[in-house]
This record gives sequence, C-alpha cells and structure tokens, in this order.
Amino acid sequence: MLAPAALGAAVIISALTSFSACSGGSGGGQASSDGGLEGGALIDSSHPLCVNGQSVDGAYPKVPTSLELLATIPNLSWSGIDETSNKVAVNLADYFEPCAAQSRLLVLRVTAGWCGTCRYDLAHTKDLTGNATFGARLRWLDMLIADEDGNPATVDDLARHENKLDQKTRIVATPAYELSKVPPSQAVLPVYVLVDTRTMVIRNFLSDPDPAQLAFRIAQELTLLDGAPAPPYPDQKLMDARFAPNEWALLQETTVPGAPPPDPTNEKSDDVAAAALGKTLFSDKALSPMGTVGCVTCHDATKAFTDSLPVSEGTAHVDRNAPSLGLAAHARWQFWDGRADSLWAQAAGPFEAKKEYGSSRLFVAHQIYANYKVQYEAVWTKYPLPDLTDAVRFPANGLPGDPAFDAMPQADRDAITRVLVNVAKSIAAFERTIRVKPNRLDKYIAGDLTAISNDEKKGLTAFVKLGCPQCHWGPRLTDDAFHISRFPTGRADAMADRGRTDVISNVLMGELTSQSVWSDMPAPHPFISHLAAGPALTGAFKTPPLRGVAESAPYGHGGATSTLLDVAKLYANAGLPLQSKLTVGEPEPWLPKFDVSSAPDLVPFMQALTAEPFAP
Ligand code: HEC
Ligand code: HEC
Repeated sequence: MLAPAALGAAVIISALTSFSACSGGSGGGQASSDGGLEGGALIDSSHPLCVNGQSVDGAYPKVPTSLELLATIPNLSWSGIDETSNKVAVNLADYFEPCAAQSRLLVLRVTAGWCGTCRYDLAHTKDLTGNATFGARLRWLDMLIADEDGNPATVDDLARHENKLDQKTRIVATPAYELSKVPPSQAVLPVYVLVDTRTMVIRNFLSDPDPAQLAFRIAQELTLLDGAPAPPYPDQKLMDARFAPNEWALLQETTVPGAPPPDPTNEKSDDVAAAALGKTLFSDKALSPMGTVGCVTCHDATKAFTDSLPVSEGTAHVDRNAPSLGLAAHARWQFWDGRADSLWAQAAGPFEAKKEYGSSRLFVAHQIYANYKVQYEAVWTKYPLPDLTDAVRFPANGLPGDPAFDAMPQADRDAITRVLVNVAKSIAAFERTIRVKPNRLDKYIAGDLTAISNDEKKGLTAFVKLGCPQCHWGPRLTDDAFHISRFPTGRADAMADRGRTDVISNVLMGELTSQSVWSDMPAPHPFISHLAAGPALTGAFKTPPLRGVAESAPYGHGGATSTLLDVAKLYANAGLPLQSKLTVGEPEPWLPKFDVSSAPDLVPFMQALTAEPFAP
C-alpha cells in the first residue's frame, strides 16, 4: 500500500516544480473551453498532467486524492446553481486546467445559513473577486452546508443564500460537508479551501479569517505557485486595538432588541386589551385544577421570567430548564426543541402538559366562563363563549384523547379549542409587550470604548476569536437555529434528550401550528419545506439567546450546567465527550474547541450580558 502513496507524492512534487517552466500567456484559461491554450507555446509537455493540450486521459488527475493539505482533492460533485441562478451539476473536474499557462486558485468557501461569522464574508465577496492584483486569477465556488435553521442544505436553499451575497456566484449544497476533513480539527466557519487549478492540489485552508488575512493568503498562494516573492501583509485597522473589520461589523448587529417582529398568525398580537387579559391569565393559578400552577410558577418576573431551578416543577418535575421569556417573542421557534412555531401555540402547551398545569382545555374554558367572560368577550368579539353552564354538554375536564372530550360533537370540541387558542393568543400578546433594558455591552458596541472593563473586553475578544458568534450573534445573540452542542440532559431518568429530532412530526402535522386552521394567517414557517428528521437533528437544540444569560442560571436544555464557567469549560472540549450517556448526537465540526485554561476568560463578558425585563 505504500508504493502508490509514495508515487503520488512524487507526482505532486514534480507537478509543482514543472509549472515554473510554463511560458507565455497571461491570466488563466480553461484547457477545454477557453480555446486560448491551443498551440505549443502554452503547453508544458513535460508536465505530467498535460498531454496534447489536455489533461491525461482528458480526465481528473490520477494521483491519489484525499481531503487533506497538499493532496489532490477528489473529484467531488454536488448540485447547485450557477451565476444566472440556473440549476447545475458541479464537478471539481470542471475546474481542472492542467495546461493553463499560469495557475489559478479555486476558492471553495463553506458557509451555513445560520452562520453569523459568515455574514461579513458573504457581503464582501467582491473585495476578492474584484481585487486588481489577483481577482482575475480566482475561480469561486460557494458551498452551503445548512439552512437558517440548521437543516441540511438542499438546492432549494441556494437562491435565498445567493441574496445574501454582494455578487452572484456559483453555489452548491453540500449537506455532507466533505471539506470538514481538510482542517485538522474543529474549524470555525466560514472555511476557505484554496485549490491550485493546474494540479487540483489543496494548497491551504483558512478558518474564519479576517479580511487582511484572507487577501494575504490568497495573494501568497498565487505568488508561491508563480515562484515569485510573497506580497507584504496588508495593513488593517483594528477597532479598540482588538477587532478586525469583519468582527466589529458582526458586533454592530448586537443592537438592543425593541418590539418583536409582527405575528400575522395572531390577530390580537399587538392588541392592548388582549395583552391586559393575557397578563392576568399568565399569573392565574386557578387555570390549573390543583390551583397551584400558573405561567408565573416557572417564569417569575422577579427572576428574569425563569424559576432559577435546574429543571422546572409544576405538578411534577419536568425534564427541561425554563428559559427566560424576556426575548421569547422574537424567536422563530419556541421551546428548546422548537416544537411550537408561534408564541401562542407555545402558550397553549403548558395547560395540557401533565407535569406542568395538568389541566385541560375544557377545564380552562370553564374557568374563563366563570371568571373572565366579560373581559374575554370584549377582546374576542368574534367568538362569544358557548353556554358552559351546561355540564352535560361540556364536561368539567377533557382534552383530545380523553373520552369525555372526544364524545362531544365536533362543533362543541371546536368551540372549546377556540377558547384555549384565544387564551393562548392573549397570553402571547402580553409576552410581546415585555422589553429588556440595555446593558453596558450595548454602550461599548455603540462606540463608548470605556463602557466595559478590560476583563470584559478580554472575554468578548475570546468569545469572538473562539467562534462563539457563529451561533450567538445579532440583537439577542442567537441564530435561532438548532445545533448539537452536547450539553447534559435534565431528564429524571438520566437518559440523553434527543431534542429536535423527536418533534418534527408535531411541527409538520401538529394540531396548533401556524399552518393550522387556528392560525389567523396560515403561514408555513419559512424553512419548513425541507424539514426532515434525521441524524443531523438528533440531539439538536435551539441556540438560546445570550442577552440575559447573566441572570438565567443554571444553563442548557437540561439545566445541568450550573455556572457560566461550567458552560465555558464544557465548550473547551466541544461539549460532553463521545462516550457520555448524558447526551446524544455527532458534535458539529465547527463547535469551538480550546484549551480549558482559556475558559475563565469568557466569564466576565457573559456576566455583563444582562437583560433586565420591564413592561413599558
Ligand atoms: C412547570 C413549569 C412551567 C410552567 C407552568 C410554564 N412553563 Fe414555560 N417553560 C417551562 C420549561 C421547562 C420550558 C422549556 C421546555 C422545553 O423546551 O421543552 C418552557 C418554555 C417556555 C417558552 C419557550 C421559550 C423559548 O425560549 O423557547 C415560553 C414562551 C414559555 N415557556 C411560556 C410559558 C407560558 C406562557 C406559560 C403559561 C401558559 C408557561 N410557560 C408555563 C416551564 C414552565
Ligand atoms: C454551533 C452553534 C454554537 C456555538 C458555536 C456556540 N454555541 Fe453556545 N449554545 C448553542 C446551543 C445550541 C446551546 C443550547 C445547548 C443545549 O442546551 O443543548 C447553547 C448554549 C449556550 C449557553 C447556555 C445558555 C442558556 O441560557 O442556557 C451559553 C452560556 C453559551 N452557549 C455560550 C457559548 C460560548 C461562550 C460559545 C463559544 C465558546 C458558544 N456558546 C458557542 C449553540 C452554540
């Protein structure tokens, strides 16, 4: 087995050295289609990959191929779209030009729809392709791993991705992320892989480079291929002597969240009277049959709308940690696993969850009739309450699946479900009024460089350099996507929590979704069409906002990570080790991994991330 590998290495070396003998011609060119490479002058006949002006056998290099530095990249193929947005099949062989007079660089740029650190790069593609020195010597291929939610990318995602670029490029969907093997360990996105088009040898890779690094590395690789002296490292102005332009640009997106985005699925989403009713219902423990549980039990306004417990307690222990609600109205999905796709659909859930309220829609409807009839009907004028005093027609308790409820005529069942939905929509209207106060970090980002301490700056720098803003970015410091980051379970049976994968059918076919008849404007979630359960989503949870993380201990879906230092230490190893039974799922290849001695650096910054809630 050794011989072919050794032969391969020899071929590569001779290929690399023989190129300098190439003569004539300017710029690059494709052997087959450009036509500019015909004629002996441009062809190096001693070049082992070029015979009669074509690649050997008219095919891809026969040298061993593998996905590592200085090896020939295998002839991978993907589906994609071209610069005119037409669907195309893309093979790496399309880029192979062994007889070109001069090497070009194929720039493979890997990004994801959710990726914060990719945003600057996508918006500044022209800086490179239009570069006066080397722009003409670049061939460019964008590669998309996943959509905005973290689902494996499909060709249908590419047109949307194209809109994020400042220039049309060829883009392929690469859900398997084959190029993850090029960097020797975890690599923060975006990842660039630079390939010499005359040999298809992987010359270099970069992980989340700043603009100066990226331009320098590209220019340097080209001069190396030409046998010319390397260019000087470009100057770059750092913000506060710390942050490169791409990093500072992303931090600038961390603005203070104001009103949440509109919710057309709830006709009373911004109705003042609905919010007032919702606020009362949020605190009303009489909606639970035991009279002991309200939303406030687990989302206490004096505790940043959490309960400060590892896992919550309603009528029994629930298996997950209660998130803070200060910013919930901004989220694309609700719950750690995103099983509700609107704020109101979420609010309907706790009533009928056995371990939370242990209530039912019939019980809730009776309470509304007994205690809130006037207020309810003043808000929900289209939906007068049926005569709930008729105990035969409307039993005291019941939800779908209970004989008492299922025996009711369809119209009565719908009338009761309507009450639950309107209660939930009123509560959602209240939740939408919650705002959070700015913190010192906001001042810093707005330009007051003295607003945070040196330790906090050190922490913010570590946060940025380690790649945390891949997922924690924007006003709330979340991408709203689902990721496998191998945090420990909170389940009473200590079994790993499978997260997103278990709720896909509910998201697609559940009773109270934003696509259902209970929605005021049936609107499928933007990225729902390619939602499919699969290994990619096993153990995936929604990225929580970090704005407010200072006040919401303990952490993670299981609440089993007590302090921010514990969280930082967990990240140092890219989550729990593979043999741990407390979690499940393949660790994502872009998860940060770093020396655990840097973990304490992150803490002062996260402790500055307050989000004190208030109702204006
Ligand atoms: C017994 C405790 C408990 C009660 C009662 C409760 N919650 Fe929660 N809440 C939780 C827990 C735990 C989660 C996370 C559960 C999960 O992700 O599976 C959660 C999740 C949420 C979320 C999702 C937030 C996010 O960031 O994804 C919202 C919104 C919310 N609750 C609102 C409410 C409302 C409104 C009520 C009352 C109708 C309520 N909760 C009642 C414990 C509770
Ligand atoms: C690949 C996306 C991703 C990256 C990168 C990432 N996070 Fe997270 N973060 C998540 C997800 C998902 C969770 C929820 C994990 C769970 O409970 O299963 C999370 C949870 C957290 C929490 C707990 C918050 C809470 O309310 O419970 C903190 C703190 C945190 N991350 C900080 C960081 C830091 C610091 C870094 C960089 C070292 C980082 N994250 C990098 C996705 C990411």
